[in-house]
Amino acid sequence: MANQVIVNTDIRKGTINKNIYGHFAEHLGRCIYEGIWVGEDSSIPNTKGIRNDVLEALKQIKVPVLRWPGGCFADEYHWKDGVGPRENRKRMVNTHWGGVVENNHFGTHEFMLLCELLECEPYICGNVGSGTVQEMSEWVEYMTFEGESPMANWRRENGHDEPWKLKYFGVGNENWGCGGNMRPEYYADLYRRFQTYVRNYGDNKIYKIAGGANIDDYNWTEVLMQNAAGLMDGLSLHYYTIPGDFWLGKGSAVDFPEDEWFITMKKALHMDELIRKHGTIMDKYDPDKRIGMIIDEWGTWFDVEPGTNPGFLYQQNTIRDALVAGLHFNIFHNHSDRVQMTNIAQTVNVLQAMILTEGEKMILTPTYHVFDMYKVHQDAELLAVDSTFGTYELNGEKLPQVTVSASKDASGKVHISLCNIDHQNEAVLDLDLRGINAADKKVSGTIITADAMNAHNTFEQPDVVKPAAFNGVAVQGNKLAIKLPAMSVVTIAVE
Ligand code: AHR
Repeated sequence: MANQVIVNTDIRKGTINKNIYGHFAEHLGRCIYEGIWVGEDSSIPNTKGIRNDVLEALKQIKVPVLRWPGGCFADEYHWKDGVGPRENRKRMVNTHWGGVVENNHFGTHEFMLLCELLECEPYICGNVGSGTVQEMSEWVEYMTFEGESPMANWRRENGHDEPWKLKYFGVGNENWGCGGNMRPEYYADLYRRFQTYVRNYGDNKIYKIAGGANIDDYNWTEVLMQNAAGLMDGLSLHYYTIPGDFWLGKGSAVDFPEDEWFITMKKALHMDELIRKHGTIMDKYDPDKRIGMIIDEWGTWFDVEPGTNPGFLYQQNTIRDALVAGLHFNIFHNHSDRVQMTNIAQTVNVLQAMILTEGEKMILTPTYHVFDMYKVHQDAELLAVDSTFGTYELNGEKLPQVTVSASKDASGKVHISLCNIDHQNEAVLDLDLRGINAADKKVSGTIITADAMNAHNTFEQPDVVKPAAFNGVAVQGNKLAIKLPAMSVVTIAVE
């Protein structure tokens, strides 16, 4: 079947919220410690304890928002243990993630500094599972109250006079599981109670995010919306792309056969159905789409690298991950009327990471490069796209071979992003650009692709998978003739 795309550059369908490109950093394995925080005395060059190489790399991809401190860790994190002189901070056991000792050296002040350096919004997840209403309420007071109060004064004593701006606050994490094993009715009531004390001080207005469903638990969404819609600004959703079985074996990040490539693509595409179905329930209670769907955990989840701590969730990252990232962004863009934020899990050294470190060494993953290629869509206007694609088939199963999304930025530049998920075949497309004359425009592109399904970067060979100029696009009248190689993610710019 011929692959045909029509991009209507005059039909704008709303803004692609830049927060769709959000990140998530948990106290898990080597994400915070080593990956971000090395301490002021480290031989690794750092800014007040935060490693400079990682900082610079993250600045490049324009991280808009960063979620912290978990994840499952959030519901056993007691923020007061993580402020004040570091040498006096209480140590705790990180029971979820490897049973290691957490020294609390990276706490609220360090996280806020990281966000300042990245120029991104902080998104803090509070503790409902094992915390108290008072503890949550005082955390918000500590961070955002300007006047005289016990918490604001304590913040000053700890070296920060001015309150921070804090917009995004999550009331618990996965409260159906590690965050307390609650029923939705019980959590809905707790959400109503806890959020009451998440106060807006001065002109700081908090966007409250309720803990949402796991995968296809539509009943959770229904109960939360029915009982608490009026008290929330966002409702979360968690979905990971796991080729195998979560408990019996997820599959290797690097050593996998072609059917695992196929199933990974299929499972990544499932995100579209989840957004539509959860979105339909949200529409019933919130037809004006005031409440954002906040997909604050997504990405690939494979078996840990052999020989590494099973509780550290360290996995390699291949061209397959790049495709998963591109597929997700195309889906998120096309649902940007409801999806206001997403946070890939996780930023450094954990799950589908942007960055891997080994002591002072650092490499960028294929996923990182897709974030870089797609950042042009941040806060751009989504364009109407009509498409017909052929199929990608394996063992009698079929998937659409290509996915697409397009946007127009503030300067009028159009960007079209395409993913060819077929591991063997190129895709030849005809792209009709309506509303502009392609012949008068400069057309260029960037591609990330590889020859092998499991191509990846290592500390010895850090540039095996990286973006390159795309020369598979030609202007023909008002159309673009495009050849997408197998296993490729492409962004085309028309200016
Ligand atoms: O991202 C790893 C874990 O996955 C998070 O801590 C938890 O929320 C989810 O189950």
